[in-house]
Amino acid sequence: GDAELQRHFEERIAHDQRIEPRDWMPEGYRKTLVRQIAQHAHSEIIGMQPEGNWLSRAPSLRRKAILLAKVQDEAGHGLYLYSAAETLGVDRSELTEKLIERRQKYSSIFNYPTLTFADIGVIGWLVDGAAICNQVPLCRSSFGPYARAMVRICKEESFHQRQGYELLLTMMRGTDEQREMVQEATNRWWWPSLMMFGPPDGDSPNTQQSMAWRIKRHTNDELRQRFVDMTVPQAEALGVTLPDPALRWNDGRGRYDFGEPDWSELKRVIAGHGPCNEERLARRRAAHEEGQWVRDAAAAYAEKQTARKEV
Ligand code: 3HC
Repeated sequence: GDAELQRHFEERIAHDQRIEPRDWMPEGYRKTLVRQIAQHAHSEIIGMQPEGNWLSRAPSLRRKAILLAKVQDEAGHGLYLYSAAETLGVDRSELTEKLIERRQKYSSIFNYPTLTFADIGVIGWLVDGAAICNQVPLCRSSFGPYARAMVRICKEESFHQRQGYELLLTMMRGTDEQREMVQEATNRWWWPSLMMFGPPDGDSPNTQQSMAWRIKRHTNDELRQRFVDMTVPQAEALGVTLPDPALRWNDGRGRYDFGEPDWSELKRVIAGHGPCNEERLARRRAAHEEGQWVRDAAAAYAEKQTARKEV
């Protein structure tokens, strides 16, 4: 009966074995996976907009080609993740509807504007850097399709982070004005990047259960701390300061102490009141509606193929 299945499931989780789509799983496990994977996919797709804003204005063909490759990668990450979500019995069209109707979320970080080209470098350095901290442990998530999607995504993410950091190094070796652009972009993106990891553990309703099911391998605060420890030396090497007066090395802890993000800002942005929320969703809705003819054509073509086979 179910008690036997539940016990077998818990044993597999306890022994770090993968749960695959056809295995029995508690309904709550399936639901929280659909929630997290769908919102992860939505984040990748919405995340194309801030960077896409600079595709037509990149300062050189090389920078345009790199940015184009990165934005295309984000689209691909979204598709891997929608496919992983679909193994749980949902359909990407219903997930897209939920996103557009604000019944599912996407990462707060993509609701901030990209005001100068230095933002493209800082997004690669900080936002993709944070994504790497968050996504590497997800390669060991207990749900097979999600973990495998993460392995592929993490490989491409390291290129994203390196190209951003290299772009900033180039600018820091440029004019005073370019150095000022890098510092100004860093000042704008630092705190929102820390908020990507989610609310503090004491205010995170999903963490405990997600850790018990080994969907999450570390808590929000643990990953945020890991990101800060990794990034501070990179900022020093770059020659920029980070906008946190409380930031300092703590020898006793062997970690950096840092200030408290403004959690009311995170709540506001998640609730849809960030600088660019309206624009991001309007653009996503328009793209979905304008793309209807492509979906219809693909479906018509698929029908013809099937009909031809049946003849
Ligand atoms: N932005 C938007 N919503 C957020 C958020 C953020 N930064 N942080 C938390 N939330 C939401 C959660 O989704 C949850 O709402 P829900 O129950 O309706 O889903 C609520 O706030 C409470 O947060 P919890 O900590 O309890 O939720 P989780 O346990 O799900 O933790 C998370 C949040 C750390 C984002 C986790 O879901 C996660 O690790 N997701 C996978 C990674 C991901 O989605 N990354 C998005 C960044 S974009 C990216 O990596 C792409 C790269 O190319 C830049």
